[in-house]
Amino acid sequence: MWLFRFLPQPASPEAIQLDWLFVGLLVLTAFFLAVVFGPLIYFVIKYRKGSKADRSNPSSGSNVLETAWTIFPAIAGLSLFGWGADLYYRQQSPPADALEIQVIGKQWMWKFQHPEGAREINELHVPSGRPVVLTMTSQDVIHDVFLPAFRIKQDVLPGRYTNEWFTPTRPGIYHLFCAEYCGTFHSQMGGRVIVMEPAEYARWLAAGGPRPSLAASGERLYRELGCSGCHDQRGPVRAPPLYRLYGKTVALQGGDIVIADEKYIRDSILLPDSQIVVGYENLMPTFKGRISEEEIMEIIAYIKSIAETDPP
Ligand code: CUA
Repeated sequence: MWLFRFLPQPASPEAIQLDWLFVGLLVLTAFFLAVVFGPLIYFVIKYRKGSKADRSNPSSGSNVLETAWTIFPAIAGLSLFGWGADLYYRQQSPPADALEIQVIGKQWMWKFQHPEGAREINELHVPSGRPVVLTMTSQDVIHDVFLPAFRIKQDVLPGRYTNEWFTPTRPGIYHLFCAEYCGTFHSQMGGRVIVMEPAEYARWLAAGGPRPSLAASGERLYRELGCSGCHDQRGPVRAPPLYRLYGKTVALQGGDIVIADEKYIRDSILLPDSQIVVGYENLMPTFKGRISEEEIMEIIAYIKSIAETDPP
């Protein structure tokens, strides 16, 4: 049985760490509550109207006491801050070897895409023992993926990518809620996270039959939409090469330097004239309205897959 009956059983090491932080906060708060309210109640009773308590002795002050009750709470409060900040930063930086799942929220459902190509709705199957990072965006309004058993919660925004990650360690079925009011059926916008043993997960992936990986679907789109015509450097039009691009810095006209991450690629597809690479002309048409969020994620998966590859 977990420490708190009023929280769901934690299902990842990160969740247990967060619970300990919560315990720390509770203990410190309870301590100060006792230190302040204990004497307060004692004195209220002792010096109540009509009591015979001795009221003659005026306070003389104590530098030692004053210093102690300033320094001790400062240290205790800052330690808690340091503890919390450490956990927060760890929660903000997913491990490099994490399994990346792409999540798209829309009124009122969740869509998930696995790197191997499996897709599901309102259900997310993940293997235990390996960090999972969710790369999330919304097709319409702001949603929020809340996984109470993993103690994580992150807004899902249209036009942006946000992340959250966890390491599921206990196979089982866990709640997924939308935690941002998003319209009429917000309360029904939920789902389940199904944590499976790795072998079972592999069987589950295989059960869907052979299907193209996300990166392979992205490459197909890259050719179908005509991206390859310019970006493959074979035709007359020159466009920035996409091999060895992901994760690198890119110099833009106007002097900005950006990192070629998911958002950069997404913006380059939808708002191509907003960031022109130094040395290139503003020629690319926008793909706004011609490409879905899923397809953008597939193309990003493709560009990621050639991040360490030289052009053929
Ligand atoms: Cu989606 Cu609330």
